[in-house]
Amino acid sequence: MCGIAGYVGPRNAVEVVYDQLKRLEYRGYDSAGIAFPKGDEIVVTKRAGKLSELAQALSDKWPEAPLAIAHSRWATHGAPTDVNAHPHFDQTEHVAIIHNGIIENYLDLRQELISRGHKFHSQTDTEVAAHVIGEEYEKGGPLEEAVRRAIARLRGAYALVVVSHLENDKIVCARNSSPLVLGLGKGENMLASDIPALLPYTREVIVMDDDTLAVLTTEGIRLMDANGRDLPVEPMHVDWDVAAAERGGYEHFMLKEIHEQPQVIRQVLAGRVDEKFKVRLEGIFGEHVWTEIDRVNIIACGTAYHAGLMGKHLFETLLRLPTDVYYSSEFRYGDPVLSPRSLAIFVSQSGETADTLAALKLCKQRRIRTLGIVNVIGSSIARECDRTIFTQAGPEISVASTKAYTAQVMVFALLALYIAQVQEMPGVRVGEWVEELMRMDSLAEDALKLEPEIIRMAEDMKNMPLCFFLGRGADAYVAVEAALKLKEVAYIPTQESPAGEMKHGPLALVQPGVAAMFGATDPHTRDKVVSNMKEVQARGGTVVAITTDDDTIMDQAADQVVRIPRAKFEFLSALLSIIPLQLFSYHVARLNGCEIDQPRNLAKSVTVE
Ligand code: M6R
Repeated sequence: MCGIAGYVGPRNAVEVVYDQLKRLEYRGYDSAGIAFPKGDEIVVTKRAGKLSELAQALSDKWPEAPLAIAHSRWATHGAPTDVNAHPHFDQTEHVAIIHNGIIENYLDLRQELISRGHKFHSQTDTEVAAHVIGEEYEKGGPLEEAVRRAIARLRGAYALVVVSHLENDKIVCARNSSPLVLGLGKGENMLASDIPALLPYTREVIVMDDDTLAVLTTEGIRLMDANGRDLPVEPMHVDWDVAAAERGGYEHFMLKEIHEQPQVIRQVLAGRVDEKFKVRLEGIFGEHVWTEIDRVNIIACGTAYHAGLMGKHLFETLLRLPTDVYYSSEFRYGDPVLSPRSLAIFVSQSGETADTLAALKLCKQRRIRTLGIVNVIGSSIARECDRTIFTQAGPEISVASTKAYTAQVMVFALLALYIAQVQEMPGVRVGEWVEELMRMDSLAEDALKLEPEIIRMAEDMKNMPLCFFLGRGADAYVAVEAALKLKEVAYIPTQESPAGEMKHGPLALVQPGVAAMFGATDPHTRDKVVSNMKEVQARGGTVVAITTDDDTIMDQAADQVVRIPRAKFEFLSALLSIIPLQLFSYHVARLNGCEIDQPRNLAKSVTVE
């Protein structure tokens, strides 16, 4: 999500780290800052907005320093403002830090520190981490020992980078679940959140492992484990060209973002589920509100609308809470019937979609409670909604939305479980659901391993004139999202509908060469889906079944079978099935030479009606 840079050596470190941040621009940012030790202080400059704002703040007198760290922020805690931008100081201002990730126990730590007299200036979890490090540093150095003691008090994901004017020749960093890469030079060493930022300076890199720390000086790099024991420094040589490196070695952002989904699932859950398998959603309506709501209206466009369909399915099947889903563009001109006790949920990756924003304004005029499920902090929809839950999926660059969809559906699952929890619904096994949500990252990793099989399928099917996407229940809702992906990036016409609807009309389109992708992850409806498959095959269509790994019947029914890992709850298996379907669209598009990250006629953020 955020960009991280650090340098120590003979060049002007301030210029180097700024250049490194520029090379990480594709990660997205909403504010940026730089810190370097000078005399008996640490000089920090930080600005909300684009990197050019920071450059302007520095350029009057572009400072000279042999060591500096820098950060471009993609907000998760607190709005993108000057104050919330990194670096952050500890209580004594002897230490400054930058951070990527989420400190899950920051609220508890913040309370604890406030009780000892600490004062905080920002709303960030990072400032809390800085104070913890500062507190440990006051007990005694060296800096790396203080950082090592401090991270034992932090829970969550982090790449932390720390400097102090009291030891102004070193940068200390630590990693757990957020990327951090070290670069070895001659008489200079550096670090970044991603390899591309290092490539102009060195090709010798070390990708840090979880639970490790490093100390960078001009003399070299020292690596340690969490117990302070030295680890071997074994750099690898990187031969990438710079453009490919920005995509982390992937050919397109779409593929990179598909592969990021296990990490995104972890980010969605970070700080929102606890060790007792309870859901903790901070900053949403008070508990009494959830018992008052008599109806939910979900309003969104495109992929976000499709995530809303999944939300409806869960709210109705799990909570028995009546839920409607509207296209934003229809809702606003449709004179909707709105109960005063209803909740309107607005789903948007960008938070700037004009139709969704207009529908939100309509609900506000009608004094309906509004809740956002939004990815971009500080965006218009996030600001306008009464409350917002952030999806924490990180910047999505590809026009075709992939990881944002998974994050939105995961948020719907968390919200449904939260409502069941506060209403103490006896029929909902919240603990079991939460436990399964926490397994979703590894199930998603297993689903991604299907890629070689999907590539072979895409090679066989890349010339299909039409592709059906079908399913029942939640599989039918995933089908509409899968269909959107294929037409959007591969320009192949699609026909999507519940599988049982085929015989009422769409079946007329089936002829030899036409393909039909059937979601069949739910064992309760699998027999019925098989009958629908037979209807397609009888007319010459090719049938692919996306089913779970415990299925025993699809081999006899479908022409090809893709098996995804089975989750404990059918809804979650259906959600996992989007991964092979996203990969399918991507590879069909790639094999057909389509322009994947910026499909023709489309834009990432649709800010016109
Ligand atoms: O930023 P939003 O989530 O509000 O965007 C909504 C749609 O424009 C978006 O999902 C669009 O359909 C994507 N290109 C789908 O991949």
